[in-house]
Order: sequence, then C-alpha cells, then structure tokens
Amino acid sequence: MFEHLSSLPPDPILGLLASYRADENPNKIDLGVGVYKDEAGHTAVLQSVKEAETRLLQSEETKAYIGPAGTPGFNAAMQELILGADHPALLAGRVRSAQTPGGCGALRVLAEFTNRAKAGATIWVSDPTWANHVPLLGNAGLQIKSYPYYDRATSSLQFDAMVDTLKNVGEGDLVLFHACCHNPCGADLSREQWKVLAEMAQKQGFTPFIDMAYQGFGDSLDDDAYGLRLMAASVPEMLVAASCSKNFGLYRERVGLAMVIYNTGAEADKGQSQMLNVVRGNYSMPPSHGAAIVESILTDAGLKANWEAELTEMRERINGLRAGLVESLAAAGAAGDFSFIQRQKGMFSFLGITAEQVQRLQKEYAIYMVDSSRISIAGLSKGNMEYFCKAVASVL
Ligand code: LMR
Repeated sequence: MFEHLSSLPPDPILGLLASYRADENPNKIDLGVGVYKDEAGHTAVLQSVKEAETRLLQSEETKAYIGPAGTPGFNAAMQELILGADHPALLAGRVRSAQTPGGCGALRVLAEFTNRAKAGATIWVSDPTWANHVPLLGNAGLQIKSYPYYDRATSSLQFDAMVDTLKNVGEGDLVLFHACCHNPCGADLSREQWKVLAEMAQKQGFTPFIDMAYQGFGDSLDDDAYGLRLMAASVPEMLVAASCSKNFGLYRERVGLAMVIYNTGAEADKGQSQMLNVVRGNYSMPPSHGAAIVESILTDAGLKANWEAELTEMRERINGLRAGLVESLAAAGAAGDFSFIQRQKGMFSFLGITAEQVQRLQKEYAIYMVDSSRISIAGLSKGNMEYFCKAVASVL
C-alpha cells in the first residue's frame, strides 16, 4: 500500500523549528515560525489565560461532547469581538459560526463548505500569501489564482495592480484578504483601500473571504477589524476564518472560528446545517479547552481588561522592535533602506534579501528565517539585535 510513497521536504515554516532546536550555536536566533516571544525569548502563557484556566478547572463539571459547532458562548463572544456588538449583519441574524481547531481548521471547514455550494470555485489569494493557505484551500477542492499584492522591489503594496486584476473578478469567485498584519509581508491595506475593495465586492459580486489571524497585533482590536467590518456591512455574503493562536497565545490549544455571513436568516440556518455536516464528517467536533478559556476571558470584564493589557504589551513590544531594527541596521552599516519595516504591521516583514543570503545567515550565524526572507520580528530582542544586524550587514 505505501511502498511507492516518496518523502516530502519538511514544511518551509515548521521545518525551520526542528533545525533551530538542533543547532548548538549559543547565539542562535529563531525568526521562523510566527510565535510571539518576550524579551527573554520565552513564549509565556498569558496571565489572563492562566487565571481563566484556573477558574475553568474548578468550575468544569463534565467532559461530555460539545457538538460540531462548539459552545454557543464562545461563538457569540467571538462574533462580537470580530464584528463589534452592534454590527448590522449580527443584528439582522445573518451570521452563523462554528468553533474550530485553530484558524487552519476554520480555513479548511470554510473551503469545504464553499466547495459544496460551488464545486471547484476559484479563490483569489494575494501574491504572496501564507504558504499554508494553498493546501488548506486547494486540497478542499477550490481552484487557486493569485492577485498582485506586494512589490518586493519597492517593499510596498501594489494596490493599483491588485485592483487591476480584481476588477475582472465577479460573482461565483472568492477573494481572500488578510484582515490585518499581512502574513508574510506585513504591508496592510489602508482604510481608503478597504473602501475601494468593499465597493468592488459590492458592485462586482465576488465573495470576500477574510483571514483574521492577528486581531490586536496591528493597531488595536477595533482598528484591526476595520476592513473586515466595512466589508461585512457592504456585501450580502462573506466568510471569515479567525484564529486565537496569537492574540490569546493559545497556539497549541487550537482555537479558531469559522464564520459565515448570509444574505438572509433563513439561508443562514440552511447554510449552518451544511457547515456542521462538514465538521461532523471531518473531525466531528472541536476540542473544548482552549475555546472555553477564550469564552471565559471575553465574557468577564475584569479578565478581558487584563487580556487587552497583555495584548497591548505584545503589540507595543513588536512595534518597538520594528523601530529598533531599522535604527540598528543603519548603525551596523547594512546597505539599503529598511525604513519600510517600521511602516509595516504585525509579526512579519520580508527583510528583502536573497535566498542565498538567508542560507548564509543560517550557516554562518545560526540565524533562522524562511527562505523568502520573512522574519518573525518577536524573535528579536535588545540582547540579540546588534548580533543580528551585523550579521545581515555582512551578507548584503
Ligand atoms: C506562521 O506563519 O509562522 C504561523 O502562522 C504558524 C504556521 O502555522 O505557519
């Protein structure tokens, strides 16, 4: 049965972690996978999460099944966090959701669900996009095409080229947008640009599919949802995949939300029965623990305030590192203008160096990043910044 299978190369992002862990260089730096780290290089459990978890352990009375949709309390709290409590789509009863195993689970469930509505539908993704979007959406049966998004030569958004491609996309096609903190390039759409895209979606009839994996890591919880909320108020139907991995630091607990906005409440009920059937035929139902933590935080004013303060601290540390990186690269004499790093948002930016230079950084300095030169900014610290910047300057 299996003898003809060939081995595949390691995953471009997750594979780096194994190489980093095996490296014995005491100066090694991990800028690979998108996991927040503090100044000491630790990914600590948030205090608000610890507190919610303690309460949960005391109050939890059963481990019985929770059902394919997960818990209603989690779904409702997440819908409000994403859309805002008074969003017209919510008030009109046109929104349905399912708690999923991480943002990946949400992307996959939504892709399979869409494939039921229109087999082999085309989804347009940004060039570049997160590498795992392609298998998550494509293996579910969707056809993937791309629109220009980021110009590596100028390290900035190519909005005109994006619009030029998307202006020919119409009803029956989906367009995937990153809500904020674009992964991998960090270049986000401005409010004006979101307005243009929302008008295009409304006029042309394509279905927006928004991936929100970093709410709160850009400017604030509400600011980061601006484009998503605008789009949701402009179109009859929309899909949202959300992740709690980064903003709640719940990476390994696998907590996400698959949300669909329908044209009418009646369509929403029918659609939800299909989505839950996709879940049942896939992993039956989501794990409970991580989502119960999120529900507990979002429904308790005190815990929520503590969580927001911790999220702000993570965001501000990354923004400080962005400014520090631009300064330190200049101080190290790195050839080129890296000021774009400070204008970008979230966990990632492309350094803009070649794959050969990335390999040299790994071999000669034990600095790990994805071949595309995407760096996970939180892996930097005051302690390793100078070493990193001198190393970069030496390979340019
Ligand atoms: C990343 O892009 O590094 C994260 O989203 C983690 C992952 O699963 O790839």
